Amino acid sequence: LNNGLGMTPPMGWNSWNHFGCNIDEKMIRETADALVSTGLSKLGYEYVNIDDCWAEISRDDKGNLVPKNSTFPSGIKALADYVHGKGLKLGIYSDAGFFTCSKKMPGSLGHEEQDAKTFASWGIDYLKYDNCNNDGSKPTVRYPVMTRALMKAGRPIFFSLCEWGDMHPAEWGAPVGNSWRTTNDISDNWESMISRADQNEVYAEYARPGGWNDPDMLEVGNGGMTKDEYIVHFSLWAVSKAPLLLGCDIRNMTKETLDIITNKEVIAVNQDPYGFQAKKVRMEGDQEIWAATLSGYRISVVLLNRGPVRYSTTARWDDIGLDPKTVVEARDLWEHKTLRTQFVGNLTATLGPHSCKLYVLKPIA
Ligand code: DGJ
Repeated sequence: LNNGLGMTPPMGWNSWNHFGCNIDEKMIRETADALVSTGLSKLGYEYVNIDDCWAEISRDDKGNLVPKNSTFPSGIKALADYVHGKGLKLGIYSDAGFFTCSKKMPGSLGHEEQDAKTFASWGIDYLKYDNCNNDGSKPTVRYPVMTRALMKAGRPIFFSLCEWGDMHPAEWGAPVGNSWRTTNDISDNWESMISRADQNEVYAEYARPGGWNDPDMLEVGNGGMTKDEYIVHFSLWAVSKAPLLLGCDIRNMTKETLDIITNKEVIAVNQDPYGFQAKKVRMEGDQEIWAATLSGYRISVVLLNRGPVRYSTTARWDDIGLDPKTVVEARDLWEHKTLRTQFVGNLTATLGPHSCKLYVLKPIA
């Protein structure tokens, strides 16, 4: 969407994966505090996004959305001021239907202009727009109504389409939103995570600055996967130029979680100015190679072992678009090491079960 936003994939946090409907203004403020105190905000995590369940089930007598008095008594404007005061941005959630998915608050269908104005007047910076409980008309009809309303609202608002990929939003999302979901909801386990990465990969050619494929939010830190699996999760989201929206309780994180989500070199791959989404360039049984061109004549490559046993996997230059004679320097982004040998033609690594290597390759001769 041509609103100047999302020139690289958005980074931040969202309440849904960890908290569901169990949200209130205190924990949103504490999350904003934690984004700053942990150093995450300095690395680019800037959006604090409230998901479903923040509003009263009834609009006021003028038809306006009303923040839930029992959980957001100070209102959303005050929260936006607080979050902005920390140098962060505030995101909110609505639905292109009559009620949101939880059915605990109204949707914006038929109230698009009014709600967009409300969000802008509160100082909202990001809108996630869900697809539940609608009138049965096509998302290609309902979503652009909100796009136009946001464009008229007088404030730049990142627009995240949450249509779950059913109607292939990658094919029509670019003029409508800044990102579009390509999958239904992720859950905190290997199968769910890896299948979302697969479904999202199909649409790689549609990703570009201003419009990103969204395989759903991160589960890193929620406890359902091993460390290696979470590293695969973060690596694939990074090279896929997916939104990096944390979905754990960042007020209480282990060092292991923090180490994964603060890997600057991996974040830099995600935020590369070219915005090319990685594609699978080779699949052999449980072994896969994912690759994408980066700025500076570099290439990001993931060597992935999806299987349950240790395996030696090779990335070949002709698969990743390099002349086989090219001499390459390889940086291992999880070991934070430039490998001492240089590589010609291919690079091999031994991978544990459900694990990966993420390299940046730089041609040197
Ligand atoms: C469905 C979306 O896909 C989820 O990310 C979340 O926003 C829930 N709805 C909220 O009800």
